[in-house]
Amino acid sequence: MIKTKQLYEGKAKKVWETEDPNLLIVDYKDDATAGNGAKKGTIHDKGIINNRMSNFMMKMLEKEGVPTHYVEEISDRETVVKRVTIVPLEVIVRNIAAGSLSKRLGLPEGTPMKRPVLEYCYKDDALGDPMVNEYHILAMEWCTKEELDTIAKYAFAVNDFMVKYLKTLNLDLVDFKIEFGRLSDGTIVLADEISPDTCRLWDCDTKEKLDKDRFRRDMGGEEDAYKEVMRRLMGEVPED
Ligand code: TMP
Repeated sequence: MIKTKQLYEGKAKKVWETEDPNLLIVDYKDDATAGNGAKKGTIHDKGIINNRMSNFMMKMLEKEGVPTHYVEEISDRETVVKRVTIVPLEVIVRNIAAGSLSKRLGLPEGTPMKRPVLEYCYKDDALGDPMVNEYHILAMEWCTKEELDTIAKYAFAVNDFMVKYLKTLNLDLVDFKIEFGRLSDGTIVLADEISPDTCRLWDCDTKEKLDKDRFRRDMGGEEDAYKEVMRRLMGEVPED
């Protein structure tokens, strides 16, 4: 598969067209941003770890009945994916209070939720990705009711599977953000990525943060944290 034209460069990824109009190549960068671009930096080898973790999880989720955009990993940082039109929603599932939920509801970080919480944010950088509910989504026609029901069903299926799987690696899945897209025939598939950029992952025993919060909160140790997640998932880390 050959990259033809660069379609888009985002905060953490470049997306290329290929000779097949239905396939794109995603190229993961080490660049990290937080606070809607206010904080910028790099996390060495993040692109490799996010590419490999995302593909690893998506392959397993396909087997669990969640269709994804994943086609083939072609290098450490590059993956062939199905072309989709992104549904402009950040779909967030939370198991333990943290981050913006803790702030909004005054819940100490680490408070377990009695059941998973599903949230939606409208993807718009200029507006700061505001939280919206099902009524906003349907009124604005960002997707149909049927699509939203499918998205919610898949989001909980992703959560159920990942909570159990990550627990076997002694990781608590605190919360995560996923995105969905439509294939040319309208099928809803899981798109974007699943990585320590988009999940909160805490060591089950020590509660050590092994995700992008280390970068967001200037805690340091983000490179080692990403490597530790990859080591637990794949038994290996990128070579220097
Ligand atoms: P939050 O607590 O800041 O709302 O984040 C919830 C989850 O979503 C957390 O795992 C981080 C992830 N997330 C993203 O992947 N991208 C984003 O732009 C934001 C705000 C959160």
